[in-house]
Amino acid sequence: MGKGIKKIETKIKEVKKIKSETFLMSFVSRHIAKTAQPGNFLHLKINSVILRRPFSIHRVAQNKVYILFKVKGRGTNILAKSRKGDVLDIIGPLGEGFQISPQKNETTAKFKPQNPKSVHNILVAGGIGVAPLVYLGEKLKQMQTARTRMENLVLLGAKNKKEILCENDFEKLQFKVKIATDDGSRGLKGSVVTLLEKKLKTYNLQLKANIYACGPKEMFSEISKILKKYPKVNCQVSFEQFMGCGLGICCGCVIKTKKGYKKVCKDGPVFNIKEIW
Ligand SMILES: Cc1cc2nc3c(=O)[nH]c(=O)nc-3n(C[C@H](O)[C@H](O)[C@H](O)COP(=O)(O)OP(=O)(O)OC[C@H]3O[C@@H](n4cnc5c(N)ncnc54)[C@H](O)[C@@H]3O)c2cc1C
Ligand code: FES
Repeated sequence: MGKGIKKIETKIKEVKKIKSETFLMSFVSRHIAKTAQPGNFLHLKINSVILRRPFSIHRVAQNKVYILFKVKGRGTNILAKSRKGDVLDIIGPLGEGFQISPQKNETTAKFKPQNPKSVHNILVAGGIGVAPLVYLGEKLKQMQTARTRMENLVLLGAKNKKEILCENDFEKLQFKVKIATDDGSRGLKGSVVTLLEKKLKTYNLQLKANIYACGPKEMFSEISKILKKYPKVNCQVSFEQFMGCGLGICCGCVIKTKKGYKKVCKDGPVFNIKEIW
């Protein structure tokens, strides 16, 4: 296993249903809490389910680590029925997460984000894609001082108003929150990408901004089309790809990039959008 990656057994502290089919789970792991970066993920063994399932690190509070998950199939169904005290078998933290500071070595840097202290940081969440963005929001907030000029904004997309996730978390972090719902029951009627486009139109084309997005792949390809007009906007996207080993061995998670095939579990899950489209 790679540097910093460990196999950990720990007990569930809490499993809470927060919306229909969406659950918040916490457990204690000093190692994960100390080493995890926003956008890293954990690979969970779920009872008799053969392949581990990947989940983003949603929040870290002291030694407590949170994941936020939506019930999709067999694995997440079992996970939703687990209880306080049940043992969790985890491998992590895994993957390359969001890059939030400019890198010292620009030639080897995977991304060149604008200095997040002096620009707009726009987080874009499609549904449960919000899961890793709360931890990212916490880190961005920690970088803010009285002298920084950063503006933090989050765009939350959901099917309807009942399925909007983490609005309060971002409000507590003093992010501006904008919402789009498919049925128009809250915020803009339509996609979160339309919301992003509208927002970008209110800025000038030389806007310096960092966009951090997580959601379905189709959402990213729509974002990439809009961004052609905004050369100074950096955009990092986190893929929710099917996975096998999670450790870069099986090639079960590859995606096509401009530089050939890459492994979402090892080279990602976060990629510069310009690497893909
Ligand atoms: C890096 C990474 C981080 C993730 N973080 C989170 C998270 O924080 N919270 C969360 O709820 N989910 C997250 N996911 C997705 C999560 O891993 C899947 O929902 C989960 O593995 C489904 O397992 P299951 O056994 O319940 O469903 P399965 O029985 O495996 O599948 C049930 C249905 O869900 C669909 N499905 C399963 N996995 C995916 C997937 N990866 N993408 C799209 N459709 C899928 C299948 O097509 C099928 O129709 C993440 C995925 C990745 C790769
Ligand atoms: S899941 Fe095996 S290489 Fe990525």
